[in-house]
Amino acid sequence: MTATLLRGRLLGFVRRPEGIDDHDAYRYEEDGGILVEDGRIAAVGPYAAVRAAAPEGIDEIDHRPCLILPGFIDTHVHFPQMQVIGAYAANLLEWLNTHTFPEECRFVEPAHSARIARHFYDEMLRHGTTTAVAYCSVHKASADAYFAEALKRGMCMVGGKVMMDRNAPQGLLDTPEMGYDETRAVIEAWHGKGRNHVAITPRFAITSTPAQMEMTAALAREFPDLHIQTHLSENHEEIRYTAELYPEAIDYTDVYANYGLLGPKSLFGHCIHLTEREADAMSEAGAVAVHCPTSNLFLGSGLFPLKTLSRRDKPVRIGLATDVGGGTSYSMLRTLDETYKIQQLLGERLNPFESFYHMTLGNAQVLSLESRIGTLEPGTDADLVVLDATATPAMALRMEVVRSLADVLFLLQTLGDDRAVRETYVAGKAMKAGL
Ligand code: GUN
Ligand code: ZN
Repeated sequence: MTATLLRGRLLGFVRRPEGIDDHDAYRYEEDGGILVEDGRIAAVGPYAAVRAAAPEGIDEIDHRPCLILPGFIDTHVHFPQMQVIGAYAANLLEWLNTHTFPEECRFVEPAHSARIARHFYDEMLRHGTTTAVAYCSVHKASADAYFAEALKRGMCMVGGKVMMDRNAPQGLLDTPEMGYDETRAVIEAWHGKGRNHVAITPRFAITSTPAQMEMTAALAREFPDLHIQTHLSENHEEIRYTAELYPEAIDYTDVYANYGLLGPKSLFGHCIHLTEREADAMSEAGAVAVHCPTSNLFLGSGLFPLKTLSRRDKPVRIGLATDVGGGTSYSMLRTLDETYKIQQLLGERLNPFESFYHMTLGNAQVLSLESRIGTLEPGTDADLVVLDATATPAMALRMEVVRSLADVLFLLQTLGDDRAVRETYVAGKAMKAGL
């Protein structure tokens, strides 16, 4: 048995905070200890108590005065888009056609897929992200590379081979049968291997024919426990074109509902311009709207009504994500900073406890993985991030006058990035130091 005792300021959420004074929503230990045994959290609490109950001579790592939280979770990211971040384009469809589709064609090469997968996991760990939900490319090789690298690093990752059979370059198209067969092959090879989860991944309605959507429906029926991920209601031109391609559907959400893709394991990227009917349908199905703020600002897609959607009579479940390469940062801290600013523009508030809840437990809940990740509860996997609120000279200067926990979190979110991530633990193993 391997055991380690981590010491620091601990913060873990037990539920969604209802306001900035909702202290029951989280547990905070000013001088806390986490006992990690065989990759799991064995005990957590005040350092002195955890130390007293720990085995004699145990390895101790003192992270004081840094904060230790559950590792960050990114619920929507494209691993084959690392080399198109910041590509200049007027809007979503121009960005896809000019930069992104040609770039993704390169992932037909297993060696290229493997190289970018290594960079992808390095960036995740550098930024404190221990679980991500990624789109691979249409090529099975890209999904093989993605899951092989996750297995090597012992990480809990969700991902899928993209299915797309129209409206893209030839090198980026499968067929309905190929999309089905290769997705099945990826499930058989990787789902449940290590900590891997395969997601059924039709890219979006524009790039799948009705025949391909029928195949995704078949996969969803055959594998009802799998996550499903796609894009929904990101851009006005995209919505208009989708209506043209699927004239029988009431609206964009109805396209996916008609193929049985609307359920509690379904993750819909963006959802910026949903109608009331669509929000009701999402809510009734327990489907998740995944907000990607840096992408929405970069591509000029719109301002996501996070607060409006979450306080409806029929609330919509919400995840937060980077959406790299439409998104412009791998950092969940930068992502929540932009989430905050978008809510400001909409006249809404997002307090720092809510932000940190979303990056950890909130995102674990929308993935239905909260029994394993996103918390500091004993028995869960020891995926952790260590944050230093004095990481840069500007942060250190600001910290001289910051007192409350809320203010420390808000400072980390507003000025922090990968420099504020001192260490990232995956199943109890320190992963950042070696990068
Ligand atoms: N819609 C379909 N594909 C994509 C993608 O790769 N990025 C974004 N932001 N939206 C999409
Ligand atoms: Zn996306």
